[in-house]
This record gives sequence, C-alpha cells and structure tokens, in this order.
Amino acid sequence: MTTTRPFKVIYDTDPGVDDAMALFYALAHPLVDVVGITTTFGNVKVEQAAVNALYLAAIAGRPDIPVTQGIKRPWVKPGGTPPAHIHGADGLGNLTSRVTTQNQLDPRSSAQFIVDMVRASPGEITLVAVGPLGNLALALKLEPDLPKLVREVIIMGGTITEPGNVSPVAEANIWGDPHAADQVFTAGWKLTMVGLDVTHQVIMSVAQFKTIADKHQHIATDTLHHAVGFYANFYSGLYPHVAKIHGCFGHDVLAFLYLTNPEHFTLAHGRVRVATEGIGQGQTMLDRRPTLGYAQRGWDADKATPQVCMQVDAQAVGQVFQDTMMADWLAR
Ligand code: BDR
Ligand code: CA
Repeated sequence: MTTTRPFKVIYDTDPGVDDAMALFYALAHPLVDVVGITTTFGNVKVEQAAVNALYLAAIAGRPDIPVTQGIKRPWVKPGGTPPAHIHGADGLGNLTSRVTTQNQLDPRSSAQFIVDMVRASPGEITLVAVGPLGNLALALKLEPDLPKLVREVIIMGGTITEPGNVSPVAEANIWGDPHAADQVFTAGWKLTMVGLDVTHQVIMSVAQFKTIADKHQHIATDTLHHAVGFYANFYSGLYPHVAKIHGCFGHDVLAFLYLTNPEHFTLAHGRVRVATEGIGQGQTMLDRRPTLGYAQRGWDADKATPQVCMQVDAQAVGQVFQDTMMADWLAR
C-alpha cells in the first residue's frame, strides 16, 4: 500500500446481506472514506434498498453519510422479483425488529449525486458498485466526461471462467441489467471487475460473524450476524463445501478488499463486453488476446480495457477482513 490518504468512495449498492457486510468493512477500514451511498434495485426493490442503506449507516454510527435512492428497474428488460429466499424479504435476513433512526434520504437521484460528487472532486472519487449497474449508466449519460473525472470504478459482478449464479454464464448483478453493464464496461474509465471467479473462492462462516458480534456487543454487528445467518442458510443449502462451515460467499466485500489490498489479487486484462440479449444474456466476455485478427462488430480495437480479478489469496483477504472488523471501529 503506497498511500495513507483514505480513498473517497461512493458505494453503489442494493442491500442485501453481503452489501451490508461490505459497507461495515468499508466503515471499519481506516483507508476507506465512504462519502455517499447510492442505492439501486436488485436484492430488494430500490425503496427498500434505500431504507436499508439509511438504517445500516445509522446503526453503525454514521447517519451523516448521504444516502440516495436510485434506479428502479433495468434499462431495457423487464424488472424481476427480488430474491427474498437469499437475502430475506427485507434484504437483511428478515430482521424481527428495527430501532428508530433519524437520518433521511438526500433528495437527489443516485446518478445525479454521483455526478455532483465527482464534479466537485475531480480525480478523487472511487465508485464501488455491487448491484445492477443502472445508476452508473445513467450517471454516464448525465455527464459524458465522467470517465475522466472518476479515479477508479470497482464492480462486484460478472464471471469469466467460474459458472454463473443465475444462468450457466451470468452473474446476478450483470444479468439484472445487462444493457447498463455493457455501457459501464465500455465507458473508458479505469475499471476492475471483481466477479465470481474470485468471490467464490472466499467463504465466510457464520461463526466468524458471531466472533465479531461477541467482541463489539453492538447493534450493528448483531444485525449483521443475524443477516448472515439467514444468507448462509441459502448458500449452505446449495454448496456442500460451504455447508461444512455453515458459511456463505462474501461477494460484495471482495470489491472493497480489492480496493484496500489489491496485492492479494491476480488480474487479467482485456476488453469486456456483456451479452445483452438471448440465452447468454448477462454473460461477461473477456477478450484475452492482444489483437483480434478478424474483429467483428462490437470487438473493434478502440474499446476500453478493464482489468478482471481471476485469482485471490482467500486466506489473506479473509484475515484482512476479520482483523479490520475486530478492530475498534464502532462508537458506543
Ligand atoms: C451479487 O448478487 C447479489 O445477490 C449480491 O449482493 C452480490 O452483489 C452476487 O452475485
Ligand atoms: Ca449486492
């Protein structure tokens, strides 16, 4: 790590249990400064995503962080039903109660908030996006120079060699809005894809969230422990090796772990396009060749070159996560 100045991050999210894990990791990490939370539809409807983002920020002692409500549905395809069986009907594992909180939504749309913040701090803001990508696509429309103004974009989404999780080739966030995703991948900004190729390598156990909750004795970590229990039931029902530790994949946390500890990831470089229609809808396709001898439409040479995380040192990032969450980051 060469910098000691915190990264200014706008967190674009659809909370969501792993979204909540990722937010708390970001708030706990001294090198991350969350300057806004922009919400989208995805794991829940956008209205619930916004309620959850406000709630999570408040119970973690950060009601000062602006939260916006964003895009309600995909750009082109019809909207789907949120996966209540994975994240709970409320997105946080069906909490039995919530405390009263006071923070309110920033009235701007998520896309407008992104544009305003990036214009105000050119070259400084990192966008960490862990849901369907409609807010980023709309921000690109509102400010075509956004790619020059943003420091970096890190996306949890997509997959290259690992099987998809909503089709044989598609990951849920990209499948959720493939047209928006293709615009984001080809926009020409510095972009890193953190997809299932690495998130399926990192399994987190409910026990480790209990250890975190026991240490802090705080509503934020108790809420997360509850939510992870629900989420782990889904993943443990699907994957025997995950069930062995009553665990789950940390998906969205990996986007922040890449930001704080890129040295633990191995990257591939190449153009990425998204299949927007047909049976392969939502597939992220990586062109690993330096040149295509007979390039067809859509693969011409001038498309942007993102980087894609292909391998991760799971043990190392797991340790970083645990150490960060066990530190004293929650005010009483
Ligand atoms: C992604 O989909 C959502 O369920 C998770 O929050 C994560 O962003 C994993 O495919
Ligand atoms: Ca998410």
